[in-house]
Formats: sequence, structure tokens, C-alpha cells
Amino acid sequence: MAEHIIVVGKGGVGKSTTAANITAALAEAGRQVALIGYDPRWSATTTIRGSAALLPVPQWRSEEVVPRYALGYKGALCIEAGDFTIEGHTRQSAALLDLPLLIQHGASYVIHDVAWEPGPYFSLPPACEGVPIVLVVTSGDMTSINVVNELFRWLNTVSSSNYRFGGVIINNLKGPLYESIISDYVSRTGTTIVANIPHSVMVSVSDFYNQTLIEAAPSSHNAYTYRKLVRHIVDSLVVPRPIPLDAGELGTWATSWGEIISELETGVVRDGSNI
Ligand SMILES: Nc1ncnc2c1ncn2[C@@H]1O[C@H](COP(=O)(O)OP(=O)(O)O)[C@@H](O)[C@H]1O
Ligand SMILES: [Mg+2]
Repeated sequence: MAEHIIVVGKGGVGKSTTAANITAALAEAGRQVALIGYDPRWSATTTIRGSAALLPVPQWRSEEVVPRYALGYKGALCIEAGDFTIEGHTRQSAALLDLPLLIQHGASYVIHDVAWEPGPYFSLPPACEGVPIVLVVTSGDMTSINVVNELFRWLNTVSSSNYRFGGVIINNLKGPLYESIISDYVSRTGTTIVANIPHSVMVSVSDFYNQTLIEAAPSSHNAYTYRKLVRHIVDSLVVPRPIPLDAGELGTWATSWGEIISELETGVVRDGSNI
């Protein structure tokens, strides 16, 4: 049975970049791997499949002579499933995106790049077997942390037999202060950071080549960070399930960090309690 890895987080934090590089690092390590993207623009798998044509799942019933899937970097299977939260994509895709294709491919890892944002009505993608591992990607911005907390709130309503928590991945931070902010938030929720992927101009450069960083810059620092993250996945390491902060706690916590940041920026110390 394949191991299903679900990558979630706020739009723009780097889910697709992370999911594609995890896929590439697994493929590079000789694993059979599939990447399923749920972006409504069908763009989640582009850095894995390069220029290979692919018909997205919601159009599979059409007569178009375009392959339903593509084999990308080192044989990684690419599927664009569409956003299941969009009416019309939902019913069609859920019926079509079944497991035989993945089983036929012999995928031992299926990476799901979920494009819809966690919120009160969040759902995991349908084509998962077993108990999937959830990985959450975040930047240091409060808007991103809010979405992580929403996800934690939603996960808290889900039975523990329905998912395993793989940890928090911090990506593309603006500076070391933001690492402290995320570390503080994550430890308060009782869980763990499993990777810190720095900002790297090489990530954008590889986007321009339509490649993952693993392919475009295999010796770069970030490429090794992705490989290390993949070792965590291969070892099936799960970390404690997160407990969300309630709205009041999160507000108080955010304000205290806001004060620290503004004291550092302006040099104006209000009461000195944070020094
Ligand atoms: N570590 C990083 N360093 C530099 N740029 C990054 C990094 N991670 C992501 N990006 C860039 O940020 C943008 C958004 O990333 P993307 O993976 O598409 O986010 P999402 O899938 O969460 O919406 C892309 O242009 C990507 O190249
Ligand atoms: Mg994306």
C-alpha cells in the first residue's frame, strides 16, 4: 500500500514548491512516486513534468487526445486533479481519480499538493488509502500562522485514526526573528518543526527552468534540506498531534510578538518586559 503525504498550508507559502521537491527527492532516491496537484490552474506538477502535456482530471471524459497523466522527473507520475472544493470539479474528479492508476504505477509514495486552504470546512483529498501523513507548510507571517491554527483546529475534530501528523515545515522566512515566532507558536501547540527551508533565489531560478530545485541545483543547500525532509518521511516519523490555540490565546500571543517586533524595529521600549 502506498504512503500518502498531504501537503497543506496557506496559498503562496510554498506548498507546491515543497511538494514537488519532496517528489523529486523521493524519485531521485529510487522510489516510485506520484504527485497529485489540486490547483485549479493545473500548475502544481509543472516543475516535475517539465513540458509534458497532461489532461486534468475534470476533463478526463472529453475526447481530447492528450495524456491523462505524465511521467516526469525520474519517472514520477503527475496528475492534476483540480480543486475538489469547486462545484463541478468535485463529483467528477472524485469518481475518476481512483486508486487503480496509482496502483498500476506501483507508487509507494503519493504526494498530495492540496490547494484549498484549511478552514472550518476543510477536507483531506479523496484518493487516499490508509492513514495519510499531514505536513503543514508555513511562512512567518501572521496570516499564514492563522491558517495553520485553523488546520490544527480542524484536525482536532478528526478522529486520530484518520491521519498521522508529520510536522510543520517552515519555508521562505524573512529573517531569524520569524523562526523564533514560529518555533514559539509550534511549541505552544505541542508539536514539532521538521524542516526549515530558507529563502533561496535558486528556487525562483529553477521555476524559470520549469524544474524542481533537486533537478536544477542538486548540490544547493535547499536541495539537501529537501532530501533530509524526505528521510524523515521515509522513516515514517510522526510527531505529536497539534493542539490549536483558541481565538483568545492566539490573539494575546500575536499581540505580544507584535510588540516585540515593533520594539526591535523602532527602538521604542514600552515596558521592557520583553527584553
Ligand atoms: N524557499 C523559497 N525561496 C524562494 N522562493 C520560494 C521558496 N519557496 C517558495 N518560493 C516561491 O514562492 C512562490 C509561491 O510558492 P508556491 O510553492 O507556488 O506556493 P503555494 O503552492 O503554497 O501557493 C513561488 O514563486 C516560489 O518559487
Ligand atoms: Mg500551489
